[in-house]
Amino acid sequence: MSMTYTASSKRYSYKNFKRCGNSGLDLPQITLGLWHNFGGKNIKAESKKMIFRAFDRGVTHFDLANNYGPPPGSAEANFGKILSKELKKYRDEIIISSKAGYDMWPGPYGEWGSKKYITASLDQSLKRMNLDYVDIFYSHRFDPKTPLEEMADALHRAVHQGKALYIGISSYSSKQTIKMYKLLKERGITCLIHQPSYSMINRWIEKDLLKTLNKLGMGCIAFSPLAQGMLSEKYINKIPKISRANEDSSLNPKLITKSYKVKIVNLKKIADKRNQTISQMALSWVLRHKEVTSALIGARTLEQLDECLDSLNNLNFTKQELKTIDKYAKEEHINLWSASSKN
Ligand SMILES: NC(=O)c1ccc[n+]([C@@H]2O[C@H](COP(=O)([O-])OP(=O)(O)OC[C@H]3O[C@@H](n4cnc5c(N)ncnc54)[C@H](OP(=O)(O)O)[C@@H]3O)[C@@H](O)[C@H]2O)c1
Repeated sequence: MSMTYTASSKRYSYKNFKRCGNSGLDLPQITLGLWHNFGGKNIKAESKKMIFRAFDRGVTHFDLANNYGPPPGSAEANFGKILSKELKKYRDEIIISSKAGYDMWPGPYGEWGSKKYITASLDQSLKRMNLDYVDIFYSHRFDPKTPLEEMADALHRAVHQGKALYIGISSYSSKQTIKMYKLLKERGITCLIHQPSYSMINRWIEKDLLKTLNKLGMGCIAFSPLAQGMLSEKYINKIPKISRANEDSSLNPKLITKSYKVKIVNLKKIADKRNQTISQMALSWVLRHKEVTSALIGARTLEQLDECLDSLNNLNFTKQELKTIDKYAKEEHINLWSASSKN
């Protein structure tokens, strides 16, 4: 893969776009996230190819955060290199997001929600990616110990200074979403989007968050829609060597339980009938809500990425399919981010 990358002329032939809430911004229904597999001193060759493949297939949105790596910051640095070279001429075709909220550097100003941390973190992200601005800047988690007004001030400042075009929030409860929406509105900013975890085995947003987003006219980008890979066939027989559950990272192998496997085996039967893989059905399923603008996936290989993008070939569900899915699409207590949305 060299500097001679030229994007496919067919990249906008895919029926990929959906309007983000009441905004003027369209987002691709599948977004590629760079949490895993894009860090390190040098980006893996396969990962670099995935970025180009995604863009060639109409994925105009790449999701990052200050801490993605490992080490933290390296995913932004690696993506920044590609943005400065191969993707340079496509900058205005691409939506880049970053976030601040989790542990990033030592001391009291290196995490959570103070204006000091959020402001410094965004400056660092811009430097790493060699950008003047990000398209979407997120508060990565709710901070119960910092006044929401202060966080709103920090986000407003980012927009006011031209360092972010749009603002988003991640893993906020319905109640805190309404509060933050109002605080930003008072400051002249419309909160664009919410980024919650959501999948067939993690359905917390259905309780009230989706209704709230609808009322506020905010978009929604659902992260970990494959439950970090649990919504695929890979764990049915055993935990494969090359898999997130075997990596001692964010997916605890203890989550691969009997009750989980029963769900997967039955979901596979439904997916088979739809001529989809479990992963493809899982992505189509999160996109069935009009409020869900995009499914925010991760991928390790080009093959996985292509499979995920092919989910867009069948986005419709019959009532009967949804009813059968509901029998097995039940909580598996996998939501690592629930503490943030408990407030
Ligand atoms: N706001 C937040 O707090 C937050 C938190 C988490 C994530 N995110 C965002 O959401 C993005 C996605 O998160 P995620 O990586 O957990 O999402 P995910 O799509 O649920 O999981 C991705 C993993 O699923 C497996 N996979 C993907 N496609 C597959 C396929 N076709 N067949 C079989 N397995 C497949 C791969 O696992 P293997 O490696 O095991 O093959 C891949 O690494 C992140 O990159 C980040 O941008 C945001």
